[in-house]
Amino acid sequence: MLLTEIDHVAIAVRDLEAAIDYYRRAFGAEVAHREVVDHDGVEEALLKVAESYVQLLTPTRDDSPVAKSIEKRGEGLHHIGYRVRDCAEALASMIAAGATPIDKAPRPGSRGTTVAFVHPKGSFGTLIELVQE
Ligand code: CO
Repeated sequence: MLLTEIDHVAIAVRDLEAAIDYYRRAFGAEVAHREVVDHDGVEEALLKVAESYVQLLTPTRDDSPVAKSIEKRGEGLHHIGYRVRDCAEALASMIAAGATPIDKAPRPGSRGTTVAFVHPKGSFGTLIELVQE
């Protein structure tokens, strides 16, 4: 089994402050980590839940994939991050199983992680991010 944990569930939102405030009021959640990821055109806030995170995600520019996703499908579940021991190994295994990679090779993600995204087409409609800590 290559998956070691659900790393995060990512939720695309228009207003990051409003979403953080909602999770604070609803659940008493605090932001464990916050980061602007320039490569992806997003700002994220991570709320820790046991060994996983809820990741609130908002676009920082109009041409960001998350901006396009919100435009097309509205706010809501955007992708799931699966934690793996070895991102390259898991990506190769997914490709061998018929998946379509978005990232051809692992690359830097937030929190100093190594990540690779895999297209929803070929993965039963779910955008998957492989996350190696
Ligand atoms: Co993610």
